[in-house]
Formats: sequence, structure tokens, C-alpha cells
Amino acid sequence: MVQNVAGILPELDPEDFYLLSGVEQGMRFSEWVSREKLPDFADLTPEEVEYRLDRCLDRGLIERKTIQYEGYTLTFEGYDALALRTFAERETITGFGASLGVGKESDVFEVQSYEPMALKFHREGYTNFREVMKERDYTSDRQHVSWLYTARKAAEREYEALETLYPDVSVPRPIDHNRHAIVMEKIDGVELSRTGLEDEQVLPVLDLVLREMQTAYREGRVHADMSEYNVFVGSEGITIFDWPQAIPADHENAEEFLERDVENIVNYFRRKYPQHVEEYDVGAVAHSIEKNEFDRVEAHSV
Ligand SMILES: Nc1ncnc2c1ncn2[C@@H]1O[C@H](COP(=O)(O)OP(=O)(O)O)[C@@H](O)[C@H]1O
Ligand SMILES: [Mg+2]
Repeated sequence: MVQNVAGILPELDPEDFYLLSGVEQGMRFSEWVSREKLPDFADLTPEEVEYRLDRCLDRGLIERKTIQYEGYTLTFEGYDALALRTFAERETITGFGASLGVGKESDVFEVQSYEPMALKFHREGYTNFREVMKERDYTSDRQHVSWLYTARKAAEREYEALETLYPDVSVPRPIDHNRHAIVMEKIDGVELSRTGLEDEQVLPVLDLVLREMQTAYREGRVHADMSEYNVFVGSEGITIFDWPQAIPADHENAEEFLERDVENIVNYFRRKYPQHVEEYDVGAVAHSIEKNEFDRVEAHSV
């Protein structure tokens, strides 16, 4: 579990951030950054580096390991601190709030801006990475796999998808992104998985979700991880979130992913509301979405 670093940010000096970004720069070349290289990367004197290393180690922002050499690496907390500092400098966020959710591969918090927003830290690649590294020769640059890179890429992909889809598709409005973090509109709603729909809402909500998927397809994206956990239901309709794995609609596997997304959603409704939801031809629904002809799921009952 990654600690919330917002509380320790006020304790940090500008030089602590130089050190952290020095370690970050060194991690482009190797997982453990040699102490000898840190004054250069961080633009600090060796004495200053020593002092800052202790402060950052104490706060869990970096880790040390001595193998052939004394090396340092950022923890997720250290990476979080760098992203938060950037958002604060840009005045994207002015305050940090409570947790909004812990996902499979993310931590989401409420943050303060001109209005309350959601900040999502991507955590992709972290747990996996440790496993992978055990089996690899990580002195070789070519095989250098970094969770930093994986998490940053995921955040970039999610932000790019939100920018492509907003506002035509009902997704959180993208506000800003940096490193492995994105700031977006905070959605006030309840996840579909935790919503008990009234009888007369069941089919209209299913239609709404499928229509948003159709609009997303028309705008060039297939979500590729659709489930009852990635849809919010609120008083103003539904919102589809969690887009890092979205694929372009012209991708060679797009149809396959679209059909799987449709199947996940339709099957969820069938399981939860068997008395309201009949059996549908999922392939036909997906096909009508591809042709931009989808209207009501009931047109595809079998
Ligand atoms: N824009 C948002 N507004 C409010 N809560 C959010 C927002 N985005 C995510 N969350 C909360 O955080 C949880 C995890 O987010 P999600 O994007 O689904 O990440 P993961 O990839 O880890 O599943 C969600 O289930 C939801 O409760
Ligand atoms: Mg999710």
C-alpha cells in the first residue's frame, strides 16, 4: 500500500525536490542510481546530496540498496511527491483531500482546485515489475523495464483518451496531467456495481451505457476494460471512466474488444436483473455499434 504523501509535502525544501528529480533522471538509465552520479543529476554539491538523501530516506521517498555500488531509487511515494509538487506549482491543485477509491492499479484522491477535482495516481507495473526484475539481467539497458515508465505511459494514455472523448462522450473532464498522475473532474455518483436500479430504470440505463460506447467508437476509441466497476451512475446520467487501456477504433483487434466490452456489460445486467433483461445477441449489438446504428438493446433480443 502506497502512503499518502500529501501530508509531508510542506516539510520538504526545494533542494529535496532537486534530489528527487535527480534520482528520477538517473532512473532513465538504471533502476538503482549510483550515489556518485547524484550530484550531477540533482545539481547539488556532494554534501548537500548526502543531507538530502537522509531526509528523503527517512520519509520513504527513496530506497537504498548496495549491490556492486550504492544505489538509490524512487519509491512510488517519491514519484507522487514530484507530481504533486508540479501540480501545485502550476496551481492546478491547491489542496489535498480524502481518498475517493483504490483501484486495481491506482489510487484516487479528492483534490482542491477552483472546485473539487479527482487526482488519479497510476500504479501500473509496480508489483509486476518486482517479479520481472528477479528474472532479468537488469544491467542491460535494452531490457530495462521501469514501473516509472509503465505508470507514466498509462497516465498519458488515459489522459489522451479523455481529451479525445470529452465532451462528446460522458467521461470525466480532463484537467491536467504530469508523470503518472492525472487530474480530472470529480464525478459525484455511485459505481454501477453498487447501484440498485429501479425496475423502470434497468433497460434505459443499459441503453445509455451502450450508446456512450457507440459515441466513443465513433470518436475513435474502444474502452477495452468495460465493467460495472468503471461506470458511475448519478442523477445526471452515467459516466464511463478508467480509460488507460483504451484502443483506437481502427486497431486490428478493436472489434474483438468492443464485443467483449458489450458482453461484459450486457451479462452484468442479465445477472443482476434477470427479470428485466432478456437474452440478447451480443454480436449483433456490437455490430450495430460499429455501424453507428445502435438505439435500443431490445431490438436485439433472441
Ligand atoms: N473522476 C473520478 N471522480 C470520483 N471518483 C473517481 C474518479 N475516478 C476514479 N474514481 C474512484 O477511484 C476508483 C478507481 O479508479 P479507476 O479509474 O477505476 O482505477 P483502476 O484502474 O485502478 O480501476 C473508482 O472505482 C472510483 O471509485
Ligand atoms: Mg477501474
